[in-house]
Amino acid sequence: MLLAGCAGLSQSPAHLEPAFWKGEPPDALVSRNGRKIDSAAAWMEIRRPELLHLFSTTVYGKPLPVPEGIEFRVLERDDNALGGKAIRIQGDILCKGIDQPNPFRLLLYLPKNAGGPVPVFLGLNFQGNHSTTFDPAVLIPEWNPKPRPRGNRADRYDLDLLLDAGYGLATIHTADIEPDRPDSWKTGVRRAYLADGVQKKDDPGTISTWAWGLSRGLDALLTIPEVDPDRVIVWGHSRLGKTSLWAAATDPRFAAAVSNDSGCGGASLTRHIVRDGKSETLRKIIEVFPHWFALNLSDYIDREEALPVDQHELLALVAPRPVYVASAESDVWADPEGEFLAAREASKVYRLFGRAGIPEEAPMPKLHEPVGEGIGYHIRAGEHSVHSFDWAAFVDFMNANLPPKK
Ligand code: GCU
Repeated sequence: MLLAGCAGLSQSPAHLEPAFWKGEPPDALVSRNGRKIDSAAAWMEIRRPELLHLFSTTVYGKPLPVPEGIEFRVLERDDNALGGKAIRIQGDILCKGIDQPNPFRLLLYLPKNAGGPVPVFLGLNFQGNHSTTFDPAVLIPEWNPKPRPRGNRADRYDLDLLLDAGYGLATIHTADIEPDRPDSWKTGVRRAYLADGVQKKDDPGTISTWAWGLSRGLDALLTIPEVDPDRVIVWGHSRLGKTSLWAAATDPRFAAAVSNDSGCGGASLTRHIVRDGKSETLRKIIEVFPHWFALNLSDYIDREEALPVDQHELLALVAPRPVYVASAESDVWADPEGEFLAAREASKVYRLFGRAGIPEEAPMPKLHEPVGEGIGYHIRAGEHSVHSFDWAAFVDFMNANLPPKK
């Protein structure tokens, strides 16, 4: 098996910690009953639905139902934002027929004078829309009792780079959808869906709920004529990178996905573990964040080898839509090698669709050297964060892999 042969692989100048395997990851191209998946049609008809079901029931929990519709209530629009280079739109998303604790507030920047609909990166943020930028016009919702400082996380966004490249950027605060807390299933939007107030083992966790919220963000973007409906890219960093991948897997309307430093439960292979407790394992993630996943996942603590899936198959669920995985050299906790091997292994599925992916025996790429077609990967120097290098690579990859539809 290709993957298992890779343990300890270290031809890269990137500093890689030694790792070991907890069993062999499943072959994405063999179905549960042993059938070889050798065509795009067999992938779409047999293996993809099977994997989607397994990830739903075992890892993230079944996706929340799609509401009857949404209302996007525009609160503010400025066609001369950011010194005249952008259009800024802010509005509230209200889901029809659902008792939402509060609306989901969307902030969107679009490049001005684009001459047509533009591609948009949509992602969640950790600290409020106003934390992603120093723009003083960004609204702080009244339901945010203790707002963090404006611009507190602005260093993770390169809005100028995106606007100059002709891309828009849209964001929603995670807490608007569901606060990142173990008891949120009782208080957040999820409660409206859980039968009898009891949590079943395959009910959605927080990641699944956030992913569903991203789909509602997409619903709102699709009401805006300046947004290209065929080029909304879902992206996320860290726990929000786990979320962006699951959002793309569950909602085929997302044209592409980006995972930045998403690690365990995201792009990194669960069975690939860095020695001496340096990377996150199922035990560690579930102990600290029990609410992120389906309760069923805890059955696999210390028995990763028994999991019916591994994370290369999550990446493959996005196929044939473009997906990009980014790692950071010092972010050993997220296991960069495990992320690379997942992207390389998922390439098999992309090849069914005629996309080259990352070649089968490719070594870890050097720092700052993106690889892959259809499915791409890079590792950069530095810590767990989002840098301008990452944004530039996301844009280059999307320019090459997500051209406008004719
Ligand atoms: C913790 C957690 C990771 C997660 C990260 C983040 O480090 O263990 O799984 O990705 O937080 O979201 O920043």
